[in-house]
Amino acid sequence: MTLKELSNEVAAGFHKKYGRAPRWVVAAPGRVNVIGEHTDYNDGFVLPMAIEHYAVMAADLSRSSGLISVHDGAADETAQIEIAKGVVRGNPKWSNYIRGVIAGFQGRGVKVPALDVFLRSTVPLGGGLSSSAALEVSTATLLEAATGEVMDPVEKALLCQKAEHEFAGVPCGIMDQFISVMGRPNQLLLLDCRSRKTRLVPMDDPAVAILIINSNVRHELGTGEYAKRRAQCEAAAKILGVKSLRDATADGLENAKNGMDDTIFRRARHVIGEIERTLHAAEGFRASNWVTVGQLMYASHASLRDDYEVSCPELDAIVEIGDAIGVKGGVFGCRMTGGGFGGCAVALVKTDAVREIIKTIAEEYKKKTGVEASLFTSRPAAGASVLRE
Ligand code: GLA
Repeated sequence: MTLKELSNEVAAGFHKKYGRAPRWVVAAPGRVNVIGEHTDYNDGFVLPMAIEHYAVMAADLSRSSGLISVHDGAADETAQIEIAKGVVRGNPKWSNYIRGVIAGFQGRGVKVPALDVFLRSTVPLGGGLSSSAALEVSTATLLEAATGEVMDPVEKALLCQKAEHEFAGVPCGIMDQFISVMGRPNQLLLLDCRSRKTRLVPMDDPAVAILIINSNVRHELGTGEYAKRRAQCEAAAKILGVKSLRDATADGLENAKNGMDDTIFRRARHVIGEIERTLHAAEGFRASNWVTVGQLMYASHASLRDDYEVSCPELDAIVEIGDAIGVKGGVFGCRMTGGGFGGCAVALVKTDAVREIIKTIAEEYKKKTGVEASLFTSRPAAGASVLRE
């Protein structure tokens, strides 16, 4: 479904639910991270792109004062958010991403009006494609349109990240909200998570495509382990005497090895190596050096699996299948993407082999794990936008 079709569908959903046409329609995309995993909260580099899957909201001012009603078309469930006294956490659970953003606007002194909202998201939930960031950024984009308070894009991403920290309890880095705000068609975004400066990296060669493979499994330990990894990285930086692992070097780490717990050592080795790989991969994309990019993706996966320990058997199986297909069969590289413990893998593939690759991975993955994967390609998409006002 194109974004236009999706937005028409959401506008129609609004009409059916509330009996009038919406005044605003906004959209914010999910993302896939091509490389640079678990580097954002270490002040490192990431290389994500926005995908052609979106959280779309259609809305109008509401007659009922003091309330934002958000109806989720897919779950057929409505969140009633009281805004008069300052927004707090509440139910349903998914509404907390929205609540956090409203609270962020209120915290900046913005007067948020009562709204009727119809929501639909095509970003797979819990799939490691930042369905939550899409929801946050979509909410922020709607509130910008409804209040006229248009924010600086960096501040907007930071406000959404804060919502995730404080209302969803996930101590995430800045990558997901950033790319959902700033994605560009046919471009990857090389983001320096320290300076928050971005550089566009073209991904417009029709001969290659980004294939996303959803393992359709999610192992519950995800959130707790994420916070643990963050703490381990901070511990490593402290031992190394640097502000963050961005400032550490492979040699420095090797020299400090004896005074370090092995787990902490391996966590730091992943981050230091991954920051390097991300910069090399950006160069590889610029030079259309697909084989090099692919090798960096495999190396990233191995490091996430062995040193960072955030992969799982299902993601490993997908990467092994990709590797077995090989460059001859059209797969340059493949790796887990996002926080880990399930969710998606990402592969760089030859466009003219996509059909065959999808068929092989789906079959082999089912054989190995008993689970059906979902596979789709996406071109890099535009970040959040107001589609109707
Ligand atoms: C999650 C977080 C991001 C990032 C990735 C790992 O998606 O939300 O900030 O840390 O994990 O790279």
